[in-house]
Amino acid sequence: MEFEDLRVAVTGAARGTGRLLAEAFAARGARVFLSARDVEAARQVADTITRRGPGRAEAFPCDLAIPDAVRGFAAALAARTNHLDVLINNGAAYVDGDDLADVPDDTIENVMAGGTGTLLLTKHLLPLLRASSRPDIVNMISACGEVGHRRSGAHPAFYAAKHAHAGLAEILSHRLRPAGIRVISLFPPDFVQDGPRQADSDLTAASVIDCVLFAVGQPRDCFIREFHFEQVRTPPS
Ligand SMILES: NC(=O)c1ccc[n+]([C@@H]2O[C@H](COP(=O)([O-])OP(=O)(O)OC[C@H]3O[C@@H](n4cnc5c(N)ncnc54)[C@H](OP(=O)(O)O)[C@@H]3O)[C@@H](O)[C@H]2O)c1
Repeated sequence: MEFEDLRVAVTGAARGTGRLLAEAFAARGARVFLSARDVEAARQVADTITRRGPGRAEAFPCDLAIPDAVRGFAAALAARTNHLDVLINNGAAYVDGDDLADVPDDTIENVMAGGTGTLLLTKHLLPLLRASSRPDIVNMISACGEVGHRRSGAHPAFYAAKHAHAGLAEILSHRLRPAGIRVISLFPPDFVQDGPRQADSDLTAASVIDCVLFAVGQPRDCFIREFHFEQVRTPPS
């Protein structure tokens, strides 16, 4: 099996792309540690994954906007495994809005705090990643984290959080390379969870996940740093 016993942690994995990523790795034999703000929802996903096999999953609570919850997740992982092969930084709050004033201050604080949580989680899981023989950090960023990107209707706070994530990924990619840790970042435009995979269709989560599986599956000489996508469809004005 391609990823037999690979130890994989995924944030924001109780639904959406995070859940699909957890399922995809477990379907290839991985042992998945999935976290979410709602641990009950995460547990249901983990149970379904484990029942289906061949990999298995465990659920953990982790609100990335709460530093103590982030440290708690890292500590719980350290109690479960002596190494981590793949950290997937997936969880991120999305907010719409053209104008800064379109959302209240606490929403903006929460979006930015989630970005800080991703940085803290990466920091606290580095010892487990360093203990792996094939460590990867996968970052689900967004086209909103690309310099010059203006096509999304996302709120400026979302752009700011994704630029922060992109900046973190950029420097870590360089600084962790000597330690053999690959930092793989994806910058997709808006994509759909399900749909046809045709040239004139929206990008699908399945295609984004295939990029992750491909990059993680490469031998260690092959360090795919970034995936960028052409936006096929014009976003609504
Ligand atoms: N879908 C797209 O069009 C698209 C495009 C580009 C990039 N992305 C990125 O790809 C990743 C997954 O996307 P998606 O389509 O699944 O997005 P989504 O539907 O917006 O889901 C976001 C995920 O992040 C979690 N989350 C939000 N705030 C969190 C927090 N404070 N702590 C922990 N988890 C938190 C959510 O969990 P809850 O269930 O607790 O809300 C959910 O699982 C995200 O990083 C997203 O920004 C998505």
